[in-house]
Amino acid sequence: MEYRGYDSAGVAVLTQADGLVVERKAGRLANLVSALDDAGHGAFAGTAGMGHTRWATHGAPIDRNSHPHRDTAGRVAVVHNGIIENFAALRAELEDSGVELSSDTDTETAAHLIAREYDHGSTAGDLPASVRAVCRKLDGAFTLVVTHADQPDQVVAARRSSPLVVGVGEGETFVASDVAAFIEHTRDAVELGQDQLVVISRDGYDVTDFHGDPAHGKPFTVDWDLSAAEKGGHEYFMLKEIEEQPDALANTLRGHFRSGRIVLDEQRMSDQDLRDVDKVFVVACGSAYHSGLVAKYAIEHWCRLPVEVELASEFRYRDPVLDRDTLVVAVSQSGETADTLEAVRHAREQKARVLAVCNTNGAQIPRESDAVLYTHAGPEIGVASTKAFLAQVAANYLVGLALAQARGTKYPDEVAREFGELEAMPSAVAKVLATVGQVRDLGSRMADSRAVLFLGRHVGFPVALEGALKLKELAYMHAEGFAAGELKHGPIALIEDELPVVVVMPSPKGRAVLHAKMVSNISEIQARGARTIVIAEEGDERVRPFADELVEVPAVPTLLQPLVSTVPLQVLAAEIARSRGYDVDKPRNLAKSVTVE
Ligand code: AGP
Repeated sequence: MEYRGYDSAGVAVLTQADGLVVERKAGRLANLVSALDDAGHGAFAGTAGMGHTRWATHGAPIDRNSHPHRDTAGRVAVVHNGIIENFAALRAELEDSGVELSSDTDTETAAHLIAREYDHGSTAGDLPASVRAVCRKLDGAFTLVVTHADQPDQVVAARRSSPLVVGVGEGETFVASDVAAFIEHTRDAVELGQDQLVVISRDGYDVTDFHGDPAHGKPFTVDWDLSAAEKGGHEYFMLKEIEEQPDALANTLRGHFRSGRIVLDEQRMSDQDLRDVDKVFVVACGSAYHSGLVAKYAIEHWCRLPVEVELASEFRYRDPVLDRDTLVVAVSQSGETADTLEAVRHAREQKARVLAVCNTNGAQIPRESDAVLYTHAGPEIGVASTKAFLAQVAANYLVGLALAQARGTKYPDEVAREFGELEAMPSAVAKVLATVGQVRDLGSRMADSRAVLFLGRHVGFPVALEGALKLKELAYMHAEGFAAGELKHGPIALIEDELPVVVVMPSPKGRAVLHAKMVSNISEIQARGARTIVIAEEGDERVRPFADELVEVPAVPTLLQPLVSTVPLQVLAAEIARSRGYDVDKPRNLAKSVTVE
């Protein structure tokens, strides 16, 4: 299960000898294993229990923030996957009632609340009912697994917008985020629905909704092996991560719009500081840099602020002009990229303020920033960035809205409307994923291409660059992205018979002039023999005659188009790489996090 995150790991076991025992360690699983070896495995002999590998969302990856979390009396143990959005209010309520919390996590609040219901509530002594009572109080996404020292034959689990499956064995029953956890013991599984709770024991399982009414999960048989199970049945993690993008977007947006306002995760700078910003730099590398190029269009349009997007490796060597009213947005999935980290340090030496957009809680870059907005894409195992990139694009829009909100260039109702449009994007991306079979087929036919060009205009230009990068790093194929308007200034000389050119079309409902110019660009290259692969908004009939291959994506607001038009390019690159027999997850010469300059 380490692929789901490895900031920490822990176990809780209901033992005959010592009741509920817990061991947890920050860092890799090996740290927990050695702690268990030191304690002696006999100390963890029991008939019910749970384990957890953590991908930190709230609270740095240190021992006291590691799961399982317990109540004060140490009789309730909880592990959790997801984000409890209203945990701050719940935490305050607990502290007001005299409860002392020992971690920075949202999970610990659940442990205390369940203990309070079990000890004093109307559901006293009834663990499933106590968990249901607490689930009804929680906002956000969560999978909770709960044990109680009084109930050695019971494990209770509940889910909302976060995965949970039941494994039905012989004289043993499992719950897990993923079948990978129990596939070596049983292939008989049960999928649980939204707002459902399951009680498991050695004899089986019982499902209810959060009000205690009987409910039914969906039985299925797992026909994957363990390795495939970790990849959700896909051949490669990257293919699974492409499929996870709707959730990555939804989880990144979740919790960042409260009481009608955009909220950051950490803000060590005042709203006045945000209002005083008179220039923005976005510094990043690779795909993160491309997400910054998208951000430029949104921030300049929404905030009327000048935005420069810089390769982090160039930024500090060109002696940029920075001061206290400069905001540097550092975008990094790993939060450890040396080029970006050094750019952050240079910016702070120049008194600029830094806002980190990062997918890794507690990483160096967010720690050295004045504000942080975490993407919640979950761990990305594939070296080529997919769900993390889309989450960065979405997070950068949130940064733009936070700036527009602080500066008043957008009224609160306008911010709310833009956020509402963002909230519709996970389902738009899901629609794209449902129709990419055509792109997979196209990719398998392009395996022998010598080179591919990518063209885009406006926010489609960064998408063209990202599509080219995916193809380079996955299929080791020469690929280049261009601003379509640049074609006539040289690159059009590259066009020859059958050369594949991917065109990212602007929306026909956006800037009409951009659409018209792109149509003429396509006819220019088609006249010179190019094979045009056009990514266009569904129903864009004007471009159809010029597309040798037409890939349609849902109609979305102009500035948000990268969220849908990038996905076919990810799939195309992965399919070409697969057809070439390459390792899609571990491309040659590359590393997931480049911690050297
Ligand atoms: C993208 O597919 C690459 N893996 C690479 O360009 C990556 O985006 C870049 O190295 C930045 O990494 P970071 O987001 O962790 O800083």
